[in-house]
Amino acid sequence: LLGLNACTASSGAAAPSAAPGDGNAQSAEAKSGTPGAAGIGDPDFPTDGNGGYDVGHYALKLAYDPPTKTLSGTATVTAQAVQNLSRFNLDLHGFTVRRVSVDGKAAKFTREGDELTVNPPAVIRRSSGFKVTVDYAGKPDPVRNSSNLGTYGFIPTKDGAFVTSEPNGAKTWFPGNDHPADKATFDFDVTVPAGTTVIANGELRGAPVTSGGRSTFAWRETHPMATYLATITLGKFDVRTGRTPGGIPMYAATDPAFRHNLDFLYTTSAKVTDYWSTVFGPYPFSSTGGVIDDFSAGYALENQTKPMYGGFEPDTGIIAHELAHQWFGDSLSVTRWKDLWLNEGFATYAEWLWAEHNGGLTAEKTFQDYYSAKHAPIWRYPPGVAQRQDLFNTSVYLRGGMTLHVLRKRIGDETFFKLLRTWTDQHKYGNVTTDDFIKLSEKLSGRPLGDLFDAWLYQPQRPEISS
Ligand code: ARG
Ligand code: ZN
Repeated sequence: LLGLNACTASSGAAAPSAAPGDGNAQSAEAKSGTPGAAGIGDPDFPTDGNGGYDVGHYALKLAYDPPTKTLSGTATVTAQAVQNLSRFNLDLHGFTVRRVSVDGKAAKFTREGDELTVNPPAVIRRSSGFKVTVDYAGKPDPVRNSSNLGTYGFIPTKDGAFVTSEPNGAKTWFPGNDHPADKATFDFDVTVPAGTTVIANGELRGAPVTSGGRSTFAWRETHPMATYLATITLGKFDVRTGRTPGGIPMYAATDPAFRHNLDFLYTTSAKVTDYWSTVFGPYPFSSTGGVIDDFSAGYALENQTKPMYGGFEPDTGIIAHELAHQWFGDSLSVTRWKDLWLNEGFATYAEWLWAEHNGGLTAEKTFQDYYSAKHAPIWRYPPGVAQRQDLFNTSVYLRGGMTLHVLRKRIGDETFFKLLRTWTDQHKYGNVTTDDFIKLSEKLSGRPLGDLFDAWLYQPQRPEISS
């Protein structure tokens, strides 16, 4: 599912434009096709994702062998061509690719950096569906500390793997269109040594099947998902399942080192999900929950349906943050990484709303505390343009959240909360831009808000507050 329009997405390799009536040039192009671009068109991440096609579904049939740290299997990518495709790329980091086929026929392929280029035996016609299968195996090599991002992707741990891929670490465990602008549904069939638990997104399709000392877990995510939100977390886990008081299925799991947190994680995640459903609109997915693994990632990640907490005891605030992301980030995903405040500013503001709802600090008080720190670094980083080398800067979180608070005060509570619900409803399972949000805010409030968003999102200096 493609969030970008195809013209921008394939700008690197636009089809030669034929003059009207120039039937020959057109049919020549149709015959030979055009290569899909090596990037989906995000200027800050030029080789992330790919052009020329739109993925609908990933079927990942994988096995992991902890002693050798080897991940192997087959990824089947079901996609639709958005141009006449002579060849196309998938993002994949590391591994040995043993075989690639397109619609069941062996295809030639080449590799360069993190690009796997597939040459289908015949041109794939614009709008037609096709299936690519990639057989691959190897030792996953997670992305390490590209600037301030820490380690992410498929990270082997002592009892399995910690799998959190934001922003572009999905390519460290499966070949795909690794950019949030192309969301898809997922099947995960993962085989591990018996005794190891596999935790993926969505729902288990049945009890794990064990034979010959190995267990296979089948998980399915039926709602569109950005690649960075996909997970197959592996290890020893205690699991608690059930429903939230509001009736949403729940799955919570903790590494044995965090066993004492399982009930807190379960109860808090349930309570928060139910509350957010009343504030942000109906919960968008088939279940909610969370996972605490014993790996000190230094962050949490809003993996779809099952946020992951990396080696720490999450407090209620961070659980409120990660579960708010189920609406802001997961159901509604960024089209370009520079608009990341649409995820992080909203999830941060959700933390303030949670405190306010529970008799803690009001959002106004939290806002004033940050606003009064006149020389804080957030006043030098405009949050509306998340910088590629510093994507998760505090400003994207805090000043992003402050932007929403200023908006709330300007348009009033009634319009503000209606705006949040209209936003999540109109763009459910889709991709969004800051411009979409500004337009909707102006529409629902009936007033121009360009000055507010400009000062708070795009100007480097601390905005004045007119009282
Ligand atoms: N989206 C996460 C959160 O704020 C942060 C992920 C950080 N990713 C990373 N590779 N450091 O909830
Ligand atoms: Zn966040």
